[in-house]
Amino acid sequence: MNSNSKFHKFAALNNIKIHPFMSDNTLSHFINKLPKAELHLHIEGTFEPELMFKIAERNGIKTKYDSVAHLKQAYRFNNLQEFLDIYYEGAGVLLHEQDFYDLTWAYLTQIHKENVVHTELFFDPQTHTDRNVPFDVVIKGIKRALEDGESKLGITYKLIMSFLRHLDEASAFKTLEAAKPYKDWIDAVGLDSSEVGNPPSKFERVFKACREEGFLLVAHAGEEGPAEYIWEALDILNIDRIDHGNRCLEDDKLVERLVKEQMALTLCPLSNLELKVITDMKQHPVLDMMEKGLLVTVNSDDPAYFGGYMDANFMAVAEALHMTKTQVATLAKNSFTASWLPKTDIEKHHKAIDALLVEMC
Ligand code: HPA
Ligand code: ZN
Repeated sequence: MNSNSKFHKFAALNNIKIHPFMSDNTLSHFINKLPKAELHLHIEGTFEPELMFKIAERNGIKTKYDSVAHLKQAYRFNNLQEFLDIYYEGAGVLLHEQDFYDLTWAYLTQIHKENVVHTELFFDPQTHTDRNVPFDVVIKGIKRALEDGESKLGITYKLIMSFLRHLDEASAFKTLEAAKPYKDWIDAVGLDSSEVGNPPSKFERVFKACREEGFLLVAHAGEEGPAEYIWEALDILNIDRIDHGNRCLEDDKLVERLVKEQMALTLCPLSNLELKVITDMKQHPVLDMMEKGLLVTVNSDDPAYFGGYMDANFMAVAEALHMTKTQVATLAKNSFTASWLPKTDIEKHHKAIDALLVEMC
């Protein structure tokens, strides 16, 4: 008998009323209560249709969709590119610093409800600067919301500036120049957008310059692109963490290397399902990867488009793969291990997870 059922028996014998919180032993409640870090999140991908309409209206922009329901109908994708086309279109209504603040604040209030206590999030400056929205407008709005999130909600953060890989090297270098006055606000750089045909090696010189500026480095690799792109991200870009990385499983030598180096992979289950990287959540490789010794984490990627934030992503894999609470707790612990938090903070979060596991198992 586990400690929880012992408690229930004791309560029944002694006529003690159990508060609903104390009696809710479900997996979803456990997932919700687990402290978690999110390491793969595009802030533009948190743009909920309701907020999009509100901001479009106040900016006097007419979208091609006449209602939230009509817009949501467009959220059916056969691949990454079909999603990206809609994602860039949605971001097109963001014009002012307050728009970026509202977008980021909405995300933070949502994850606060899910006990996400730390987030390392991407923003895509070129998506905005290419529409003549200045770099400083974008970053100031995001940064002000992140500061409020830390002071009012206790959510710590790191900010990752992501380059769009379908654009050229010159555009990435121009973005790096624009970022230099805000260097202290940016912890890392990343690489996202259309993967196939835009290998990491295209950005070798940009990433070298970013490393020289002191940024940490990450790159999307092996989402749709081949295992070869993961090798390039490791050997040519010298990245610190891999975003997605699902296709490493096609290459045993690569898996061996990733395990040996404990290189973290930021997996995104609902994204994988919606973008047809997998056809059924039961096929998701997260458990298989854990069993191989890979340092894997669960993240939401673009939650407004893929049907859920962190809790929904944890729940989707936990249910489909029949995970134990211990396995789910390991994923939550991995999220801190793979984060860029100081060691003492990581240990503090690990302890809190261990305590919750004892309490709720
Ligand atoms: N992959 C690549 N680029 C992206 C993604 C993604 O999942 N989301 C936003 N930009
Ligand atoms: Zn992503």
